[in-house]
Amino acid sequence: MNLFDSQMKKFIKDLQVGQQVDTYYKLQAVEKRLKKDGTFFLALELMDKTGKIPAKVWDSAEASLKILKPGNMYRLKGYVNEYMNKKEIKVDGIRPASTADKDFDAGDFEEKSNFDTGALFNQLIETVKSNLTRPYYLQLVDGFVAAYSEKFKSHYGAQKIHHAYLGGLLEHTYSMVKLAVFIAEHYSLDKELLLIGTLFHDVGKIFEFSITPVPQATMQGGLVGHIVLGNGIFLELKNKIQGFPEELSIKIQHLIISHHGEKEFGSPEVPMIPEAYALHVIDLLDSRIKIMEEAIKNAETGGIFSDYINALSRRLYVEKGEKEGKG
Ligand SMILES: [Fe+2]
Ligand SMILES: [Fe+2]
Repeated sequence: MNLFDSQMKKFIKDLQVGQQVDTYYKLQAVEKRLKKDGTFFLALELMDKTGKIPAKVWDSAEASLKILKPGNMYRLKGYVNEYMNKKEIKVDGIRPASTADKDFDAGDFEEKSNFDTGALFNQLIETVKSNLTRPYYLQLVDGFVAAYSEKFKSHYGAQKIHHAYLGGLLEHTYSMVKLAVFIAEHYSLDKELLLIGTLFHDVGKIFEFSITPVPQATMQGGLVGHIVLGNGIFLELKNKIQGFPEELSIKIQHLIISHHGEKEFGSPEVPMIPEAYALHVIDLLDSRIKIMEEAIKNAETGGIFSDYINALSRRLYVEKGEKEGKG
Protein backbone atom coordinates (compact mmCIF):
# COMPACT_ATOMS: atom_id res chain seq x y z
CA MET A 1 0.00 0.00 0.00
CA ASN A 2 1.19 3.48 -0.84
CA LEU A 3 2.25 5.41 2.25
CA PHE A 4 0.07 8.35 1.16
CA ASP A 5 -3.07 6.53 0.00
CA SER A 6 -5.84 8.24 1.91
CA GLN A 7 -5.63 11.52 3.71
CA MET A 8 -6.67 11.74 7.33
CA LYS A 9 -7.05 15.47 7.50
CA LYS A 10 -6.39 16.82 10.95
CA PHE A 11 -5.96 20.44 11.87
CA ILE A 12 -3.11 21.20 14.24
CA LYS A 13 -5.28 22.57 17.03
CA ASP A 14 -7.24 19.28 17.15
CA LEU A 15 -4.26 16.89 17.25
CA GLN A 16 -4.15 14.54 20.23
CA VAL A 17 -1.22 12.57 21.60
CA GLY A 18 -1.28 9.02 20.18
CA GLN A 19 -3.05 9.98 16.95
CA GLN A 20 -1.89 9.03 13.46
CA VAL A 21 -1.69 11.90 10.98
CA ASP A 22 -1.59 11.82 7.23
CA THR A 23 -2.27 15.27 5.86
CA TYR A 24 -0.83 18.50 4.41
CA TYR A 25 1.10 21.06 6.38
CA LYS A 26 3.09 24.13 5.52
CA LEU A 27 6.75 23.98 6.50
CA GLN A 28 7.77 27.03 8.52
CA ALA A 29 11.32 26.04 9.43
CA VAL A 30 13.71 23.12 9.23
CA GLU A 31 16.86 22.57 11.26
CA LYS A 32 19.48 19.83 11.08
CA ARG A 33 20.44 18.59 14.55
CA LEU A 34 22.99 16.11 15.81
CA LYS A 35 21.94 12.78 17.33
CA LYS A 36 23.96 11.13 20.09
CA ASP A 37 25.37 8.60 17.60
CA GLY A 38 26.82 11.39 15.44
CA THR A 39 24.19 11.18 12.70
CA PHE A 40 21.53 13.82 12.07
CA PHE A 41 17.81 14.25 12.60
CA LEU A 42 15.60 17.08 11.40
CA ALA A 43 13.56 19.41 13.61
CA LEU A 44 10.67 20.92 11.67
CA GLU A 45 8.10 23.55 12.45
CA LEU A 46 4.77 22.99 10.72
CA MET A 47 1.69 25.17 10.46
CA ASP A 48 -1.83 25.31 9.14
CA LYS A 49 -4.50 27.98 9.62
CA THR A 50 -5.21 26.70 13.15
CA GLY A 51 -1.70 26.80 14.60
CA LYS A 52 1.84 25.46 14.68
CA ILE A 53 3.44 22.23 15.82
CA PRO A 54 7.03 20.91 15.92
CA ALA A 55 7.89 17.66 14.13
CA LYS A 56 10.95 15.41 13.99
CA VAL A 57 12.35 13.34 11.15
CA TRP A 58 14.59 10.66 12.70
CA ASP A 59 15.28 8.43 9.71
CA SER A 60 16.72 9.33 6.30
CA ALA A 61 17.21 12.92 7.41
CA GLU A 62 19.70 13.69 4.62
CA ALA A 63 17.29 12.60 1.88
CA SER A 64 14.37 14.48 3.44
CA LEU A 65 16.44 17.62 3.84
CA LYS A 66 16.94 17.78 0.08
CA ILE A 67 13.20 18.17 -0.56
CA LEU A 68 12.37 20.49 2.36
CA LYS A 69 12.06 24.20 1.74
CA PRO A 70 10.40 26.54 4.28
CA GLY A 71 7.29 28.16 2.84
CA ASN A 72 6.30 25.09 0.81
CA MET A 73 3.49 22.61 1.48
CA TYR A 74 4.09 18.93 2.29
CA ARG A 75 2.06 15.78 2.69
CA LEU A 76 3.14 14.23 5.90
CA LYS A 77 2.50 10.91 7.55
CA GLY A 78 3.33 10.31 11.18
CA TYR A 79 2.30 10.00 14.76
CA VAL A 80 1.60 12.57 17.50
CA ASN A 81 4.01 12.18 20.38
CA GLU A 82 4.55 14.02 23.61
CA TYR A 83 8.00 15.43 24.33
CA MET A 84 8.77 17.62 27.35
CA ASN A 85 5.04 18.12 27.96
CA LYS A 86 4.48 19.33 24.39
CA LYS A 87 2.91 17.74 21.37
CA GLU A 88 5.06 17.02 18.35
CA ILE A 89 4.80 14.83 15.27
CA LYS A 90 7.16 11.94 14.66
CA VAL A 91 7.41 11.85 10.88
CA ASP A 92 7.33 8.52 9.05
CA GLY A 93 7.02 9.92 5.54
CA ILE A 94 7.09 13.33 3.93
CA ARG A 95 6.78 14.51 0.34
CA PRO A 96 5.99 17.82 -1.38
CA ALA A 97 2.33 18.52 -2.13
CA SER A 98 1.74 18.54 -5.86
CA THR A 99 -0.85 19.84 -8.31
CA ALA A 100 -2.02 16.24 -8.74
CA ASP A 101 -3.19 16.15 -5.11
CA LYS A 102 -6.97 16.47 -5.46
CA ASP A 103 -7.53 16.63 -1.70
CA PHE A 104 -5.09 19.52 -1.18
CA ASP A 105 -6.82 22.75 -0.13
CA ALA A 106 -4.69 25.92 -0.15
CA GLY A 107 -7.33 27.57 2.06
CA ASP A 108 -6.16 25.37 4.95
CA PHE A 109 -2.98 27.46 5.16
CA GLU A 110 -4.31 30.96 4.77
CA GLU A 111 -3.55 32.67 7.98
CA LYS A 112 -6.45 34.76 9.19
CA SER A 113 -6.36 37.28 11.95
CA ASN A 114 -8.44 36.55 15.05
CA PHE A 115 -9.87 40.04 14.89
CA ASP A 116 -11.00 42.58 12.30
CA THR A 117 -7.73 44.33 11.46
CA GLY A 118 -9.48 47.09 9.48
CA ALA A 119 -11.69 48.03 12.42
CA LEU A 120 -8.80 47.86 14.90
CA PHE A 121 -6.62 50.02 12.67
CA ASN A 122 -9.38 52.66 12.51
CA GLN A 123 -9.67 52.52 16.31
CA LEU A 124 -5.90 52.98 16.64
CA ILE A 125 -5.87 56.03 14.36
CA GLU A 126 -8.97 57.50 15.99
CA THR A 127 -7.49 57.11 19.48
CA VAL A 128 -4.23 58.74 18.41
CA LYS A 129 -5.86 61.58 16.50
CA SER A 130 -8.43 62.39 19.17
CA ASN A 131 -5.53 63.10 21.52
CA LEU A 132 -3.62 65.34 19.09
CA THR A 133 -4.02 69.10 18.66
CA ARG A 134 -0.88 70.13 16.77
CA PRO A 135 -1.73 70.33 13.05
CA TYR A 136 1.64 68.97 11.89
CA TYR A 137 1.16 65.86 14.07
CA LEU A 138 -2.28 65.31 12.54
CA GLN A 139 -0.76 65.69 9.07
CA LEU A 140 1.94 63.21 10.02
CA VAL A 141 -0.64 60.62 11.08
CA ASP A 142 -2.60 61.19 7.84
CA GLY A 143 0.63 60.68 5.88
CA PHE A 144 1.29 57.46 7.79
CA VAL A 145 -2.22 56.16 7.05
CA ALA A 146 -1.97 57.00 3.35
CA ALA A 147 1.44 55.39 2.90
CA TYR A 148 1.58 52.45 5.27
CA SER A 149 -1.88 51.40 6.54
CA GLU A 150 -2.12 48.27 4.36
CA LYS A 151 1.28 46.91 5.30
CA PHE A 152 0.93 47.92 8.95
CA LYS A 153 -2.48 46.24 9.37
CA SER A 154 -1.36 42.82 8.25
CA HIS A 155 2.17 42.66 9.60
CA TYR A 156 3.40 40.46 12.46
CA GLY A 157 4.52 42.10 15.70
CA ALA A 158 7.69 39.97 15.66
CA GLN A 159 9.07 37.05 13.68
CA LYS A 160 8.82 34.66 16.61
CA ILE A 161 8.72 35.87 20.17
CA HIS A 162 5.53 37.88 20.72
CA HIS A 163 2.54 38.95 18.58
CA ALA A 164 3.98 36.69 15.83
CA TYR A 165 0.78 36.56 13.78
CA LEU A 166 -1.17 38.53 11.22
CA GLY A 167 -2.25 41.84 12.77
CA GLY A 168 0.19 41.41 15.66
CA LEU A 169 2.03 44.68 15.04
CA LEU A 170 -1.28 46.53 14.98
CA GLU A 171 -2.52 44.83 18.17
CA HIS A 172 0.77 45.57 19.99
CA THR A 173 0.76 49.22 18.88
CA TYR A 174 -2.91 49.77 19.79
CA SER A 175 -2.43 48.19 23.21
CA MET A 176 0.54 50.52 23.80
CA VAL A 177 -1.36 53.59 22.59
CA LYS A 178 -4.07 52.98 25.21
CA LEU A 179 -1.40 52.66 27.91
CA ALA A 180 0.40 55.74 26.58
CA VAL A 181 -2.71 57.91 26.95
CA PHE A 182 -3.14 56.84 30.57
CA ILE A 183 0.54 57.11 31.52
CA ALA A 184 1.00 60.52 29.87
CA GLU A 185 -1.98 61.89 31.80
CA HIS A 186 -0.92 60.23 35.06
CA TYR A 187 2.59 61.74 34.94
CA SER A 188 1.70 64.97 33.08
CA LEU A 189 3.97 64.04 30.18
CA ASP A 190 3.75 65.42 26.65
CA LYS A 191 0.96 63.09 25.53
CA GLU A 192 1.15 64.07 21.86
CA LEU A 193 4.86 63.34 21.71
CA LEU A 194 4.42 60.00 23.48
CA LEU A 195 1.59 58.98 21.15
CA ILE A 196 3.51 59.83 17.98
CA GLY A 197 6.53 57.94 19.32
CA THR A 198 4.34 54.93 20.17
CA LEU A 199 2.70 54.89 16.73
CA PHE A 200 6.07 54.96 14.98
CA HIS A 201 8.21 52.94 17.38
CA ASP A 202 7.98 49.58 15.56
CA VAL A 203 6.83 50.74 12.12
CA GLY A 204 10.25 49.76 10.75
CA LYS A 205 9.25 46.13 11.27
CA ILE A 206 7.21 46.22 8.06
CA PHE A 207 10.53 46.32 6.21
CA GLU A 208 12.61 44.43 8.78
CA PHE A 209 11.12 41.05 7.95
CA SER A 210 8.75 39.65 5.37
CA ILE A 211 5.91 37.33 6.40
CA THR A 212 5.37 35.34 3.21
CA PRO A 213 6.08 32.60 2.46
CA VAL A 214 7.46 32.41 6.02
CA PRO A 215 8.59 35.09 8.45
CA GLN A 216 12.21 35.91 7.69
CA ALA A 217 14.56 38.87 7.91
CA THR A 218 14.94 40.99 4.79
CA MET A 219 18.34 42.26 3.71
CA GLN A 220 17.65 45.71 5.17
CA GLY A 221 16.12 44.12 8.26
CA GLY A 222 19.25 42.13 8.94
CA LEU A 223 21.71 44.86 8.03
CA VAL A 224 19.87 47.97 9.30
CA GLY A 225 17.12 46.82 11.72
CA HIS A 226 13.66 48.17 12.56
CA ILE A 227 14.82 50.98 14.83
CA VAL A 228 16.79 52.78 12.13
CA LEU A 229 14.29 51.80 9.42
CA GLY A 230 11.43 53.24 11.52
CA ASN A 231 13.33 56.46 12.07
CA GLY A 232 13.75 56.68 8.29
CA ILE A 233 10.00 56.22 7.74
CA PHE A 234 9.26 59.01 10.22
CA LEU A 235 11.75 61.38 8.53
CA GLU A 236 10.40 60.60 5.07
CA LEU A 237 6.83 61.49 6.16
CA LYS A 238 7.91 64.45 8.29
CA ASN A 239 9.88 66.00 5.43
CA LYS A 240 6.66 66.31 3.41
CA ILE A 241 5.14 68.57 6.08
CA GLN A 242 5.95 72.27 5.91
CA GLY A 243 6.97 73.90 9.14
CA PHE A 244 7.38 70.72 11.21
CA PRO A 245 9.27 72.00 14.29
CA GLU A 246 12.82 70.67 14.25
CA GLU A 247 13.02 70.29 18.00
CA LEU A 248 9.94 68.06 18.09
CA SER A 249 11.27 66.07 15.13
CA ILE A 250 14.45 65.37 17.08
CA LYS A 251 12.47 64.33 20.16
CA ILE A 252 10.34 61.93 18.11
CA GLN A 253 13.49 60.46 16.58
CA HIS A 254 14.88 60.09 20.10
CA LEU A 255 11.75 58.18 21.18
CA ILE A 256 11.98 55.84 18.19
CA ILE A 257 15.69 55.10 18.45
CA SER A 258 15.81 54.70 22.26
CA HIS A 259 12.73 52.48 22.65
CA HIS A 260 14.77 49.32 23.32
CA GLY A 261 16.05 51.06 26.42
CA GLU A 262 19.71 49.99 26.40
CA LYS A 263 22.50 50.07 23.86
CA GLU A 264 23.06 46.34 24.21
CA PHE A 265 19.45 45.76 23.13
CA GLY A 266 19.93 47.65 19.88
CA SER A 267 19.14 51.24 20.80
CA PRO A 268 21.82 53.71 19.68
CA GLU A 269 20.91 55.92 22.65
CA VAL A 270 19.26 55.27 26.00
CA PRO A 271 16.02 57.17 26.79
CA MET A 272 16.96 60.65 27.99
CA ILE A 273 13.56 62.32 28.34
CA PRO A 274 10.59 61.05 30.39
CA GLU A 275 8.43 60.39 27.31
CA ALA A 276 11.18 58.18 25.83
CA TYR A 277 11.55 56.28 29.08
CA ALA A 278 7.77 55.83 29.29
CA LEU A 279 7.69 54.49 25.72
CA HIS A 280 10.43 51.98 26.51
CA VAL A 281 8.64 50.71 29.62
CA ILE A 282 5.24 50.50 27.91
CA ASP A 283 6.85 48.51 25.06
CA LEU A 284 8.55 46.16 27.50
CA LEU A 285 5.37 45.68 29.52
CA ASP A 286 3.21 44.97 26.50
CA SER A 287 5.64 42.54 24.88
CA ARG A 288 6.42 40.66 28.11
CA ILE A 289 2.82 40.26 29.21
CA LYS A 290 2.05 38.98 25.71
CA ILE A 291 4.90 36.45 25.89
CA MET A 292 3.45 35.26 29.21
CA GLU A 293 -0.09 34.99 27.84
CA GLU A 294 1.10 33.04 24.81
CA ALA A 295 3.26 30.69 26.90
CA ILE A 296 0.40 29.99 29.33
CA LYS A 297 -2.03 29.42 26.47
CA ASN A 298 0.37 27.06 24.70
CA ALA A 299 1.43 25.13 27.80
CA GLU A 300 0.50 21.50 27.39
CA THR A 301 -0.98 19.01 29.80
CA GLY A 302 1.16 17.56 32.58
CA GLY A 303 3.29 19.71 34.84
CA ILE A 304 2.33 23.04 36.31
CA PHE A 305 5.27 24.99 34.89
CA SER A 306 5.88 26.12 31.32
CA ASP A 307 9.09 25.40 29.43
CA TYR A 308 11.97 27.77 30.16
CA ILE A 309 11.34 31.00 28.25
CA ASN A 310 14.60 32.58 27.10
CA ALA A 311 13.06 35.99 26.48
CA LEU A 312 11.93 36.17 30.11
CA SER A 313 14.79 34.16 31.69
CA ARG A 314 12.32 32.02 33.63
CA ARG A 315 9.64 29.38 33.54
CA LEU A 316 6.05 30.35 34.29
CA TYR A 317 3.59 28.85 36.69
CA VAL A 318 0.62 27.59 34.71
CA GLU A 319 -2.65 27.48 36.60
CA LYS A 320 -4.43 24.49 35.16
CA GLY A 321 -7.99 25.37 36.22
CA GLU A 322 -7.67 28.88 34.82
CA LYS A 323 -6.22 27.65 31.56
CA GLU A 324 -8.90 25.03 30.99
CA GLY A 325 -11.64 27.44 31.99
CA LYS A 326 -10.50 29.92 29.39
CA GLY A 327 -10.33 27.23 26.69
FE1 LIG B 1 11.13 47.51 18.76
FE1 LIG C 1 7.32 47.27 20.29
